[in-house]
Amino acid sequence: MALKIAVLASGNGSNLQAILDKHAAGVLDVDIRLVLCNKRNAYALERAEAVGVPTLCLPHTDYPDRESFDQAMIKAIQESGADTIVLAGYMRLLTSAFLQAFAGKVINIHPAILPAFAGVRGAADAHEYGVKLAGCTVHFVDEIMDHGPVIIQAAVPVNPEEDVETLKQRIHSAEHRVYPQALQWLAENRLSLEGRVVRLASSDKPKLAAAGNCLVWPPLEEGF
Ligand code: GRF
Repeated sequence: MALKIAVLASGNGSNLQAILDKHAAGVLDVDIRLVLCNKRNAYALERAEAVGVPTLCLPHTDYPDRESFDQAMIKAIQESGADTIVLAGYMRLLTSAFLQAFAGKVINIHPAILPAFAGVRGAADAHEYGVKLAGCTVHFVDEIMDHGPVIIQAAVPVNPEEDVETLKQRIHSAEHRVYPQALQWLAENRLSLEGRVVRLASSDKPKLAAAGNCLVWPPLEEGF
């Protein structure tokens, strides 16, 4: 059965687009019940509307505090029928009440190889630090920012002299491969937790550990 998802975004929504594209291509088994944005000018809203996916804009500035805002989101998401929350450039911390409402069912993508470079400047911090391998991480969300159990990571080699914007773009390209893949594993019910270690049930699908010049682990499977 398709994974019923709500995508939360605050901005451009290129990861949302990757999800929409893989869904349209017939390889990602999701039912996108809602795209919810906290900013009126989020381009993610237009991307969803363009393909007839339901959208809702709830500006967080309309609410007196984080708790009341998250309660409004919980209600809207529950009404949509979604039970899995996909954070795709959603730039606000979630309350405990929100995480409890969708316990173990909130996932995020971060533009660095966690646990290094958590926080809002992940890719820029990695570039500034001078790492030779940058990358991205898809993980379950817990109460601590950029901390929950890791599902998949891509290592993106940093080219000498590369500026931060170019590196960010290459990390973004890797994100667009690994996020839909992680969602498909969830849809196939192949992810389980042992402590904070995510186990992936095996399949006999053909695998690809490289995407461009990145190393991806666990390997991408056919279609991703
Ligand atoms: C991505 O870099 C993601 O890792 C981070 O926010 C950014 C969102 O980009 N969490 P986009 O809106 O999907 O283009």
